[in-house]
Amino acid sequence: MTNRRFLFLLGSSRHGGNTELLARRAAEQLPADVEQEWISLVDHPLPDFPDLRHDGGYSAPDDPHARRLLDATLAATDLVIASPLYWYSVSGLTKRYLDHWSGWLRLPEADFRGTMAGRTLWGVAAYASHASLAEPLAGTLHHTAAFMKMRFGGVLLGNGTDRGDVLKDGEALTRAKTFFAEEAPPAVFPHQAG
Ligand SMILES: Cc1cc2nc3c(=O)[nH]c(=O)nc-3n(C[C@H](O)[C@H](O)[C@H](O)COP(=O)(O)O)c2cc1C
Repeated sequence: MTNRRFLFLLGSSRHGGNTELLARRAAEQLPADVEQEWISLVDHPLPDFPDLRHDGGYSAPDDPHARRLLDATLAATDLVIASPLYWYSVSGLTKRYLDHWSGWLRLPEADFRGTMAGRTLWGVAAYASHASLAEPLAGTLHHTAAFMKMRFGGVLLGNGTDRGDVLKDGEALTRAKTFFAEEAPPAVFPHQAG
């Protein structure tokens, strides 16, 4: 795993939540030579994303949080979206970050698409009710990876809602031990397969 750099983007609106706890358990298994960067999106509030695609386009972000997140994203070989399940999908903070990709994709100086292609997108999510209800979240991340020609490592799910609950989900903790060791296949839309 040499020369890999994992960026953990924490999408919960609270610090130290179940999603973060589970992501940290999985990250503990990464070899020491793998760099890790942890960023909580709640500490880097992004502005509303303006759709300027057909109205003049985008210039390099002058918002410091957007700049920081863009630079960290471009530097990551492995991007871990650690978002709790909010209304069956990613949290609002996470969704807003992904919306900004639409602008970053159009910055000629960033080559965002070319840089991200071939890198790996992973998901970690805590949920309160049933794992099957996290399908829209997993679909969002899978399709995002496919659109970007990234690899998709899948989603590590953990059950819990009160603080620390996820540490009682033995199945999730077991899966966390090997989650990042699993090979991530290229993400492809079903209709593109074969
Ligand atoms: C705004 C909001 C929406 C939520 N929506 C869902 C949901 O659709 N399905 C579910 O199982 N849990 C839902 N939950 C529960 C959270 O997924 C759960 O509390 C989780 O532990 C929160 O993640 P965190 O501990 O990392 O902050 C929701 C919680 C909040 C605050």
